[in-house]
Amino acid sequence: MGSKIIAPSILAADFANLQRDIEMVNNSKAEWFHIDVMDGVFVPNISFGMPVIKAISKHAKKPLDIHLMIVDPDRYIQTFADLGGAVLTVHYEACTHLHRTIQAIKAAGMKAGVALNPHTPVSVLESIISDVDLVCLMSVNPGFGGQQFIQNTFAKVNQLKSLIQTHGATALIEIDGGVTDENAEMLCAAGADVLVAGSYVFGSDNPTATIDKILGLAVGA
Ligand code: DX5
Ligand code: ZN
Repeated sequence: MGSKIIAPSILAADFANLQRDIEMVNNSKAEWFHIDVMDGVFVPNISFGMPVIKAISKHAKKPLDIHLMIVDPDRYIQTFADLGGAVLTVHYEACTHLHRTIQAIKAAGMKAGVALNPHTPVSVLESIISDVDLVCLMSVNPGFGGQQFIQNTFAKVNQLKSLIQTHGATALIEIDGGVTDENAEMLCAAGADVLVAGSYVFGSDNPTATIDKILGLAVGA
């Protein structure tokens, strides 16, 4: 099934031991850091902002996959590029001029991602799928870690895979929210390329071993 990427979500890390948790990811088989930025407007929660991402960036030795859950993300594209973002994902629901936003992210030297809320159908991406580097399917309602995985995500992965193939596009499929050993294998078998995992990794007794376990399920799919 090709290579699979595990992206631990720093939202679930111990913020009082952030450097320790970053080193854990550096020394693990995870390929990306997933960074959740929430503004308290697009989602009902506020996570962290630029100073914290700057601190993460200083220690992280792997690409930063930044997920913006904020309104009007165009305001901060250059800022996130300057902070070391490798992938910048904006929400379809937060962008009036999504095509322009995608082009601006690429012009700033980052890979461009689009996230879809659970209620947003994959078909809204039909006219833009060839322009994006990654599609993030939210498998929980964005705003909080530790929520239960929404089963309809499996159907959306199939629909997205088919949309990508129909258009000869190359976008990676990322799944975000409620990823565990119970769904990792099936998600990757359906076509997921990137699995974000927050509480399942950082809430476990041995996060490094948990990353190994999810990756094993992902590549075995
Ligand atoms: C939710 C965030 C997720 C979250 C995943 O709004 O986008 O990245 O951190 O956390 P878990 O894996 O705990 O569901
Ligand atoms: Zn996220």
